[in-house]
Amino acid sequence: MRTYQIAAIPADGIGPEVIEAGAEVLAALGQRAGDVDFKLTFFDWGSERYKKHGEMMPSDGLEQLKAFDAIYFGAVGAPDVPDHITLWGLRLPICQGFDQYANVRPTKIIPGVTSPLRGVGVGDLDWVIVRENSEGEYSGNGGRAHRGLPEEVGTEVAIFTRVGVTRIMRYAFQLAQSRPRKLLTVVTKSNAQRHGMVMWDEIAAEVAIEFPDVTWDKMLVDAMTVRMVKNPKSLDTIVATNLHADILSDLAGALAGSLGVAPTANIDPERRFPSMFEPIHGSAFDITGKGIANPVATFWTASQMLDHLGEATSSQRLMTAVERVCDAGIVTPDVGGKATTREVTEAVIRAIHGSN
Ligand code: NAI
Ligand code: MG
Repeated sequence: MRTYQIAAIPADGIGPEVIEAGAEVLAALGQRAGDVDFKLTFFDWGSERYKKHGEMMPSDGLEQLKAFDAIYFGAVGAPDVPDHITLWGLRLPICQGFDQYANVRPTKIIPGVTSPLRGVGVGDLDWVIVRENSEGEYSGNGGRAHRGLPEEVGTEVAIFTRVGVTRIMRYAFQLAQSRPRKLLTVVTKSNAQRHGMVMWDEIAAEVAIEFPDVTWDKMLVDAMTVRMVKNPKSLDTIVATNLHADILSDLAGALAGSLGVAPTANIDPERRFPSMFEPIHGSAFDITGKGIANPVATFWTASQMLDHLGEATSSQRLMTAVERVCDAGIVTPDVGGKATTREVTEAVIRAIHGSN
């Protein structure tokens, strides 16, 4: 029996609803496989804790998480707590403290989900965006001086390091190499940003030499938005900076049909620390408690987690089950259906048990 210890942090809003669904699906996958067991330990960290104790997680939170094989995360955000507190109080400390420098965001059109792009269906859009998750434009470097005076200054300095760029390029080339098309697009803005972005391009070319079987090209970020919309088939694996990939992956999620299906993985490729798996969406307080949160993003990120743990069979089994259920029209209102979270979850569990 292979046993995995998983830290579950449902946190806020619909987070507990979708993570609860994910926990049931993981249990079903364990039963179906027979020789694998996912042991979930739940942590009640988040905005409720913040309102009572003034902190989103305990001060030794990272220490508590270190021994786990993976982290399964819901969402943070509450209407009565500022967003920078919820984000910087829980999710970002985990990403940064565990050096989860590769943020991996797969996007594809799931059967039963409609893309807003005319004539684009299943198989026409199948991408993985790799986002640099530790530096770049979100390094936190900068400051403000002469606050409130006419001469006030604010700086937000993007930091690119050779180590940081090389490791994300290597990760992206490896990922591209592992996919059938072996195709990588490096997103840049080296025409206007002539320092860090030029170094980014140079390092991409250096790392490319290690991967002679990967075909790669370079796109300016603005032109990339056009290509994503007009020629989605021409793309496969994509690597971009923290800011560029943040924006492009929201566009990717929208083109694939709904935020409710888009997953993300925050990976420490060196496996020094647990990696974290989560839906891209936030706490969605407009639908919290209504039982209609789409659990597909949370299932899909569980499939990413299973791949990371080396459980490829269960991962594939889960995605096949999800696709079957969506294809049968058992989907939540955000993608045009009438099903509840519970109905989708039960259908996916049935599909898992009925699978080969
Ligand atoms: P959101 O992603 O929570 O919701 C945006 C829209 O998408 C809403 O109409 C919501 O109902 C819908 N939606 C999201 N997930 C859905 C799902 N699984 N099923 C069905 N519909 C879904 O983004 P919003 O409203 O901008 O932010 C709400 C809170 O979440 C804020 O406090 C924000 O800071 C936080 N947030 C947290 C994130 C995280 O924990 N990683 C990511 C994004 C936002
Ligand atoms: Mg974003």
